[in-house]
Amino acid sequence: MRKRFIAGNWKMHKTKEESLAYMQEFRQYIQGAKDVDIVLAVPFTLLETIKKEIENTGIGVAAQNIFYEEQGAFTGEVSAAMAKDFADYVIIGHSERRKYFNETNEIVNKKIKAAIGKGLKVIFCLGETQDERNQGKTKQVAETQLREGLAGLTIDNMKSIIIAYEPVWAIGTGNTATPEQAEEVHAFLREILKPVFNDQVAQETRIIYGGSVNPENASAILQKENIDGCLPGGASLDPQKLANIIKSQ
Ligand code: 13P
Repeated sequence: MRKRFIAGNWKMHKTKEESLAYMQEFRQYIQGAKDVDIVLAVPFTLLETIKKEIENTGIGVAAQNIFYEEQGAFTGEVSAAMAKDFADYVIIGHSERRKYFNETNEIVNKKIKAAIGKGLKVIFCLGETQDERNQGKTKQVAETQLREGLAGLTIDNMKSIIIAYEPVWAIGTGNTATPEQAEEVHAFLREILKPVFNDQVAQETRIIYGGSVNPENASAILQKENIDGCLPGGASLDPQKLANIIKSQ
């Protein structure tokens, strides 16, 4: 049985004061949630604050990016070791980073290796654009991103990976993938893990869905066999909405 995994991706939102107000409510709303791993992916500036806020709650905290170099003259960047001071997880390969910051599969792969090397767990995002889907390339794109992103990882490394299927056309558009569309890609990704790693890795790796998840559509998505959780963005900015997604049956 794969444990459900739900992470809220705040993206570039919230000041320290706003985050403290959020946490006060969020802790109340999620009382009683069980059998689920809960993670908050917050800006670097909030990692320390949120780490303190989640103490003894069982909630995890994620950074939203790292750079793959260990240290050096890379103004504005944050290394895996620096993020690990506060975070348990890191999001890598998000489509917004691929699009606005030109991250390639090769860069994503280097970042994943750097993160695992420092003991961070990785929420590894991939997914096709609308154009790619229209051209019938959804599976081809997902397979390439999966294989190149995870290139060189060992079977043991895969214990630190959560895969997030996030079709670009569904992100921030309100145009969520249907549970069937998502399930089809999740099942396909799981199949690819078999020859790349082995059957056990394919069986145990959690594959979560992101793209316009909200409290109304979460339940139907989460019912699907190969969908092990979700990664809401916009909805996670509201503590009640995120809690309702977490408590979805
Ligand atoms: P939205 O839920 O706002 O579509 O964002 C999804 C996402 O990109 C999570 O990483």
